[in-house]
Amino acid sequence: MTFNPSTILVTGGCGFIGANFIKEILSLDKGTKLINFDALTYAGNLENLADCIEDPDHIFVKADIRDKNAVSKTIDEHSPDAIINFAAESHVDRSIDNPMEFFETNVGGTLNLLNAARKYEVKRFLQVSTDEVYGTLGDTGLFTEETPLAPNSPYSASKTSADLFVRAYHETFGMDTVITRCSNNYGPYQFPEKLIPLMINNARHNKALPVYGTGLNVRDWIYVRDHCMGIWTALTKGKSGEVYNFGGNSERTNLHVIKTILKILDKPDSLIEFVKDRPGHDLRYAIDASKAKRELGWEPKMDFETGLKETVDWYIDNKDWLDSVTSGEYKKYYERHYGKG
Ligand code: NAD
Ligand code: TYD
Repeated sequence: MTFNPSTILVTGGCGFIGANFIKEILSLDKGTKLINFDALTYAGNLENLADCIEDPDHIFVKADIRDKNAVSKTIDEHSPDAIINFAAESHVDRSIDNPMEFFETNVGGTLNLLNAARKYEVKRFLQVSTDEVYGTLGDTGLFTEETPLAPNSPYSASKTSADLFVRAYHETFGMDTVITRCSNNYGPYQFPEKLIPLMINNARHNKALPVYGTGLNVRDWIYVRDHCMGIWTALTKGKSGEVYNFGGNSERTNLHVIKTILKILDKPDSLIEFVKDRPGHDLRYAIDASKAKRELGWEPKMDFETGLKETVDWYIDNKDWLDSVTSGEYKKYYERHYGKG
């Protein structure tokens, strides 16, 4: 059975994945109305959606998922039949500096949305989660949906808590919920505090590339548009109460990723600088996405080398975007975290 929502409340639609999702869905021209509910934190940028602002199927509401009245008012006004919750504080390093903010937005905000979804009888609630809820892998093995939850960072602890509330609302109140857990995304519009855009931005300024620890930590990279199609498929075809993992079948060490970026930009490896490791740094993430393939017919399409080249080209073609998001608050964050400007 396929679920065909006519209006979706998309929280966090001005962030990296949310903005790519909105663009992707509008481009499918399905006539689905997307209510983009975003507080525009440092990570949210309405400019990311400059080409969709005039689209009648995209309505922007500047508001906070922690704000009960704003959530109720928006649901009351637009009567969405689904909620997709992308809104979150999303950066592990920032969560180490300020765990409470992650608790308030990622747990409190999600709970607030669940309560409103219940009150207004929204048909389906999709929680965008992460593979980081499973903790870390050693050198072998893959995360499946059955892997025990064992988060190691304040970020992943907050995402795990949110997942558990979603699960509880399904079990206790019979709400129709779906949870998706994805590996590391890359692509256009990612805030340059995350590995790939940070390294591209530093390399273009011939600035040192800060590698935590040995650089041998492994992430399973997925192209953001593949993830967005996974979310759409889970929303429309997923079974209530289920969890679906999405991954890119692209395990790479951080050093491999960074050296590939340097090669694409024709910059020397001597820009690499090994710095103090992140506390609690998860060694390896890798996803078994066979359930999504079997039950949803979803598979990632982009191969990593092509996707990374396209991504580097996008940031270089969009230097103005990089310059605008790295002015102001970013400079202060960078100095605080890396100890230099
Ligand atoms: P992001 O940090 O780029 O964007 C987050 C968005 O949420 C921003 O637009 C921000 O303004 C908004 N937001 C933050 N707090 C809010 C609040 N209180 N109320 C309303 N809006 C608020 O994050 P992203 O990388 O696009 O991630 C989106 C979701 O996907 C998150 O839930 C994240 O945990 C999850 N996820 C991300 C990745 C990844 O690799 N980036 C991987 C797996 C899962
Ligand atoms: P990140 O993009 O922060 O994603 P996550 O921690 O959610 O996986 O980091 C990806 C990997 O890159 C992770 O192993 C930490 C590492 N990393 C660095 O080595 N240097 C950096 O400056 C950053 C931001 C990350």
